[in-house]
Amino acid sequence: MKVAVIGANGQLGSDIVTEFQKVGEDAAELTHADVDISLLESMRNALGSIKPSVIVNAAAMHHVENCEKEPLRAYEVNALGARNLSIVARELDAKLVHVSTDYVFDGSKKKPYVESDPVAPLNVYGNTKLAGEAFIRGTAEKYFIVRTSALYGRNPCRAKGGKNFVDLMLKLAGERDELRVVDDEFVSPTSTAELAKQITELSRTDHYGLYHATAEGCCSWYEFAKTIFEVTNTKVNLKIASPNEFPAKVPRPKYSVLENAGLKKLGLNALSKWQEGLQAYLTAKGQHS
Ligand SMILES: NC(=O)c1ccc[n+]([C@@H]2O[C@H](COP(=O)([O-])OP(=O)(O)OC[C@H]3O[C@@H](n4cnc5c(N)ncnc54)[C@H](OP(=O)(O)O)[C@@H]3O)[C@@H](O)[C@H]2O)c1
Repeated sequence: MKVAVIGANGQLGSDIVTEFQKVGEDAAELTHADVDISLLESMRNALGSIKPSVIVNAAAMHHVENCEKEPLRAYEVNALGARNLSIVARELDAKLVHVSTDYVFDGSKKKPYVESDPVAPLNVYGNTKLAGEAFIRGTAEKYFIVRTSALYGRNPCRAKGGKNFVDLMLKLAGERDELRVVDDEFVSPTSTAELAKQITELSRTDHYGLYHATAEGCCSWYEFAKTIFEVTNTKVNLKIASPNEFPAKVPRPKYSVLENAGLKKLGLNALSKWQEGLQAYLTAKGQHS
């Protein structure tokens, strides 16, 4: 199976490349320097010469504030980019795996969202990713749309820059007397290593459709930070930030927990509890106490 991974040097894309290579697949790595998903001809040329049987799109414009400032560019990348890949995938008779987001929901459900739940994005990022999903459903034939949430991995998220949440908390714990973290926003922190494995496994099936793929269970950012410090035996004065201490510049869902209902129905769910994913991540980095 020949695979093309777009966004191959990103936080998730780099682990997807590794995972395909681990199972012996030939994975062509395409970065932003090689292709621009918002340009159909760019994708036609690049993918036409690789002739993959599987295209994985881990590329996106997903810095939420930047999307709000540049909505047209966000639409070009997240929506038209997905359309372009759908067109090329269909032309090449390739499977398309496209990564989407929990931000298609507004968070009002307060219970884990399943794939059939109504969507209601609160910001430009969520709207453009949702438009991307719609283009894929309408254009691609063999597709997997994989919605995920709150990623962290061995390589940094290029869009956000700097460290992921886990590494940032550990760094700040060494620098500050007190750390304050919000306790009113709930997510399922998901390890990119585990998600990459899930994507690889799913792409080898023909169970096409929309899937939620996050770690099992959920926590607030405060609970996540507390667990990071417990697992690494880090001594720190961790406090709950008061409401409005860190006002969001762009509206975001306060609760964006996803249930991997589709994967579980097929017996394909490979994602562990968020605490287990975190422990594996810290063990791999040699930071587990
Ligand atoms: N990070 C999260 O917490 C999170 C949560 C839910 C869903 N997601 C989704 O997960 C996916 C992967 O995210 P990530 O954390 O791995 O992000 P990342 O590290 O920022 O990687 C995104 C990649 O996309 C590339 N890219 C951006 N615009 C492009 C374009 N027009 N053409 C080609 N490549 C382009 C970037 O290259 P440059 O940096 O060189 O521009 C980068 O390599 C995205 O679809 C995102 O929406 C992420």
